[in-house]
Amino acid sequence: MNINIKIGTAEKESAEMLVFYLYEDLKTVEGALAFCDNALNNTITELIKKKEFVAKLNKTITLPTYGKIPAKRIMLAGLGKKKDVTPDKVRQAAGTTATITRDMGIGEVTGVIDSINIPDSSSKEWYQAYIEGFLLALYKFQKYKNVSSEEQKELKELTLLLSKKEAFKSANEAVRHGQIIADAVCFTRDLINTPAQDKTPAILAETAKKLAKEPGILCKILSSPELKKLGMGGILGVSQGSAQPPKFIILEYNGRAKNQDTIVFVGKGLTFDSGGICLKQAKDMDQMKSDMSGGAAVLGAIKAISKMKLPQHIVGLIPCTENMPSGSAIKPGDIIRFHSGKTAEVANTDAEGRLILADALGFAEKYKPSAVIDLATLTGSCVVALGTAASGMMGNNEELKKRVKTAGEKTWERVWELPLWDDYQEQIKSDIADIKNIGGPHAGAITAACFLSRFAEKYPWVHLDIAGTSWCEKNNAYLQKGASGVGVRLLVQLVQNWIRFP
Ligand code: BES
Ligand code: MN
Ligand code: ZN
Repeated sequence: MNINIKIGTAEKESAEMLVFYLYEDLKTVEGALAFCDNALNNTITELIKKKEFVAKLNKTITLPTYGKIPAKRIMLAGLGKKKDVTPDKVRQAAGTTATITRDMGIGEVTGVIDSINIPDSSSKEWYQAYIEGFLLALYKFQKYKNVSSEEQKELKELTLLLSKKEAFKSANEAVRHGQIIADAVCFTRDLINTPAQDKTPAILAETAKKLAKEPGILCKILSSPELKKLGMGGILGVSQGSAQPPKFIILEYNGRAKNQDTIVFVGKGLTFDSGGICLKQAKDMDQMKSDMSGGAAVLGAIKAISKMKLPQHIVGLIPCTENMPSGSAIKPGDIIRFHSGKTAEVANTDAEGRLILADALGFAEKYKPSAVIDLATLTGSCVVALGTAASGMMGNNEELKKRVKTAGEKTWERVWELPLWDDYQEQIKSDIADIKNIGGPHAGAITAACFLSRFAEKYPWVHLDIAGTSWCEKNNAYLQKGASGVGVRLLVQLVQNWIRFP
């Protein structure tokens, strides 16, 4: 997609589609829209007065202009009430603009950005939200589909129309960053939407190696012999029932800045979770190709961070494996010894995510990190607790939790904290090993985090359970049915805001 920034006046633009953003509580049309309204015999004022168009969020109406102004069509796009507007509502409105225009078969949009009334002080953030929403909404996963050229409608060009040239600099930065971020999120979505057959651990490892062709990124892959040497019984145990050998991806980005911190991202890379011997039911099992969403988010975030050249040292650790039932599979009752030396009784083979993460969290120690953040589609229990609007957050450090929460709110990839009180540790006690891999029937998201906490004792750590947020059941303004790419924008924002950790 080609994105231009133009300084000009809307009523003089010869656009295919000229989009004005409107507030629901707006009484009279103003500025450039008033000029257009005049030229169109006050049609717009009439529409609003008669409530033919109410500018609720994500509502739009398109009007032909019959040559009365240079633009061929005007779109009015709602933002809801003015006092309630947020960057995410702008992200949504931009997404709605993009998909509606594309589906009309129109190849170009000119957005009258001034009509949003963005505060000067934070214009970059709002412009960037607009770009992100626009690009993310146009995502489609069509690699496996024969699409006729007629069906294949493509929006090729976006022009951001600004009236003041002072706004150019922040708009330009916003376009650059917005494009990098949207590109990374779509890369992550593609990986998650890809069927498990085409993203085996070995293929994911190759993908990570390709990423390392970017300047500043190094990649190392650990295979079974190295994993054995390192005593990584978690990832080895989970993978032993599968025909696909496990891979442990290590990606390292170095910003080479003075006084930078080392931040480790750990991502669950279950390329298919059948449940193993504790086999899942058939319904919705296909969705378990997305059980590597955490790992995919880590790959996407590192891709964006390296392109933005952010001044920190980032390490990505992604244990990749399938969880399959077979004659060689791990069995309930088996005991695993992890990289850290601790042992766990496998009470349920479907609680496999924590087993591979335990090795990765233990391994993270060697980087002496200032902070470790893990992302994992870890529990159905988290989906029961929080639904799809927030990822579950648990951790051992108040300051880090605060930073993650702030980044989540800024990007609208919101997180909600669940308590990681000692009271819950009771549930994962084992008679024959240090711990066991499931708790009782209650508080499953928390007992899963309790398990992880035993391997993250040596550094500030936050765990994000993205089981509910990584997958969308239906289309939204800028999210499509399928993978959301959650985590990428949050992690990039976290690193962008990073200041030396106390
Ligand atoms: N990958 C699943 C969790 C999951 C469920 C992700 C639904 C996305 C949507 C995980 O490995 C799992 O199977 N967890 C079990 C744990 C249980 C056996 C303690 C679960 O949540 O049922
Ligand atoms: Mn499972
Ligand atoms: Zn799983």
